[in-house]
Amino acid sequence: MSHFKAFEVAEVSEKQFQGSVIERSVEQLHEGEVLISVHYSSLNYKDALSARGNRGVTRKYPHTPGIDAAGTVLSSDSDKFRVGQEVLITGYDLGMNTAGGFGQMIRVPATWVIALPAGLDMAMSMRLGTAGLTAGLCVDALLRSGLETNSGEVLVTGATGGVGIIAMAILAKLGFEVVASTGKPEAKAVLQGIGATSILNRNEISEASPKPMLRERWAGAVDVVGGDTLFNVIKALKYGGSVAACGLVQSPMFQASVLPFILRGVNLLGVDSVELPLARKQDIWNKLANDWQFDGLEQLCTEITLDQLDASLKTVLAGGATGRFLLNLQA
Ligand SMILES: NC(=O)c1ccc[n+]([C@@H]2O[C@H](COP(=O)([O-])OP(=O)(O)OC[C@H]3O[C@@H](n4cnc5c(N)ncnc54)[C@H](OP(=O)(O)O)[C@@H]3O)[C@@H](O)[C@H]2O)c1
Repeated sequence: MSHFKAFEVAEVSEKQFQGSVIERSVEQLHEGEVLISVHYSSLNYKDALSARGNRGVTRKYPHTPGIDAAGTVLSSDSDKFRVGQEVLITGYDLGMNTAGGFGQMIRVPATWVIALPAGLDMAMSMRLGTAGLTAGLCVDALLRSGLETNSGEVLVTGATGGVGIIAMAILAKLGFEVVASTGKPEAKAVLQGIGATSILNRNEISEASPKPMLRERWAGAVDVVGGDTLFNVIKALKYGGSVAACGLVQSPMFQASVLPFILRGVNLLGVDSVELPLARKQDIWNKLANDWQFDGLEQLCTEITLDQLDASLKTVLAGGATGRFLLNLQA
């Protein structure tokens, strides 16, 4: 098969971007050692930004987004991978300026590719996708910083989103008391089902507060929101507590003071899932496939096809999704 279907975003007029399903040929793909037949991808906030024409994510259009892909190897110039092997790719330049997982084929450098870990099938790996990897990295960062189950409540912001809901599920599985901050009160039952011990309305922590410090509440936190929310979280960390910061849905900017850092010794832990070394990605994927596997992920996912992608990306961009979208490229 030298032709395949892909979702392509084009600039149809000045700053107006539109996505459609088109046919592409293998020759149009980027250079790389490994050609892969993509079975599944997933939807992440960054894909929604790329599909909207965000030049911070994607410089040149037309472009096929999709920062995640799981599939089988069609050909390989690397002795690390053999034809037919099941593999997954997340991050690096996939779906940013390299044609991504929203196409039925991708070609990528061997240094981006991970053999699918035992314990996960291709669909499950993409139900997790970059969101799961990032959630895992956040949990890992908190554990390394010394967070223990008897330390107290752990806050997760953007709790109904991909990163938030998976971070919550892993923390609950590990025995932590997890508080979910959300803008969707109607999702309370879903969040409790995945392990939230209590729910916080995100408006309570989203506004800038004039108080230099807040009551010590969180032993740790996973923040996908950024902006004033992040500083409010920092100000309410318990002595020595840490927040793993990975997102910017409220704002990439935040104003802060050093007071929580110098009076309570709190820690701001930066989390990147894109450029980190492949061995670290592999380590987290192995945990996701083993000790951190949790029940209920399938029920938190909506499976879609290429034809439903455009509408689903708009839902993600509007922050309207609960859980994850799994894109089936073979349907
Ligand atoms: N550092 C990394 O490597 C990395 C990797 C993956 C993702 N990210 C970032 O992490 C963030 C979340 O990604 P995701 O894939 O989980 O996105 P997502 O599935 O779209 O979830 C984002 C969630 O944030 C909440 N939210 C949306 N708009 C908000 C606003 N204005 N203020 C406060 N909360 C808002 C919503 O949850 P509620 O309604 O429940 O509040 C929404 O479901 C994004 O900024 C993404 O770019 C970073």
